[in-house]
Amino acid sequence: MKYLFNWEKSIKEEELNKVIEVLKNNGLALLPTETVYGIAANALSDEACKKIFSAKGRAQDNPLIVHVSDKQMLYKLVKNISEVEQKLIDNFMPGPFTLILEKQNIISNTASAGNSTIGIRMPSNSIIHEVINKSGIPLAAPSANISGRPSGTNVKDIFDELKDKVDCIVNGGECKIGIESTVVKVINDVPTILRPGFITEDDIEKVIGKVALSDKLFKKVTKDDKVESPGMKYRHYAPKTKCILVSKSENQINIINNILKKEKSVCILGFSEDKEKINTNKFIDMGSKENLNEIAQNIFSSLRKIDKQNVELAIIEGVEKKDLGLSIMNRLVRACENNVI
Ligand code: TXA
Ligand code: MG
Repeated sequence: MKYLFNWEKSIKEEELNKVIEVLKNNGLALLPTETVYGIAANALSDEACKKIFSAKGRAQDNPLIVHVSDKQMLYKLVKNISEVEQKLIDNFMPGPFTLILEKQNIISNTASAGNSTIGIRMPSNSIIHEVINKSGIPLAAPSANISGRPSGTNVKDIFDELKDKVDCIVNGGECKIGIESTVVKVINDVPTILRPGFITEDDIEKVIGKVALSDKLFKKVTKDDKVESPGMKYRHYAPKTKCILVSKSENQINIINNILKKEKSVCILGFSEDKEKINTNKFIDMGSKENLNEIAQNIFSSLRKIDKQNVELAIIEGVEKKDLGLSIMNRLVRACENNVI
């Protein structure tokens, strides 16, 4: 890493020029977005995009999302936008929303992993917006983490993991949302959620009508399965420690306390309200179960705390698979590698 900048309070013009210089030279910049941090590079350059794949250890067939600053830039990168797609763009961009569209040739084939489509997102975070806007460079940026590990939502959590893999790091504080964008592809005029995120099924239904959910969201997908979104195939968000997810039920706390009677080397990832009810001194607080936004914001840094507990097993409390809860459970099920009771 050549540069480490702190823009928590404000964007510094001179440093901004340095970040742009890194990107123009096909380097990698760790930048905040409103969802999670991203490892960003010039989306028009094969050389730059290849560096993202090797920095993350990412499978070659898993395409990147390209970030734009405004609609003008978006229209230069994609083609054949349908009426439904246009409505989605008008309603959800800028924001935590990614739309899969037909790509123009200028986008690097490395970014699209050889596909004719590309995921496009217009982040609302002012730091990444300003970098794209001032440089005029669309940025390919996957979540900031080594592939398979939980996404990074603050610089402290990912500094050691990524400091030697990128050319510059911009600290923009904690990400406001904390869970990745909703990835949508319009299939036969129906918006289909390939990855649930902060924008919920309900949010989309309100502006478009019918919405479909990929049937793979909670399935164990293997390497050779054919999926709409290659990211679903891989181990994801997982701590090194073995994790079990306890589905939401009336007995959730009894189930956990019973496991705690048998197993000794255990930590719990649970809700603030349950801390006193669960018999453990290794409790990681994900936030209040009444506040899904708070849980979403804490989810990845909480998952990252598990490995620091030096235990053999982590038990995670689940939420109802509804609204933002669906997206939270998607991440937790994957973090537990489908170990759900
Ligand atoms: O919030 C976010 O989306 C963050 C921030 C940095 O913008 N980015 C992010 O990127 O989460 P990544 O690469 O970690 O996850 C992108 C997901 C992957 O599951 C990938 O398979 C899917 O989107 N995806 C990307 N392009 C696609 C395409 N053309 N078709 C289908 N799925 C695609
Ligand atoms: Mg990711």
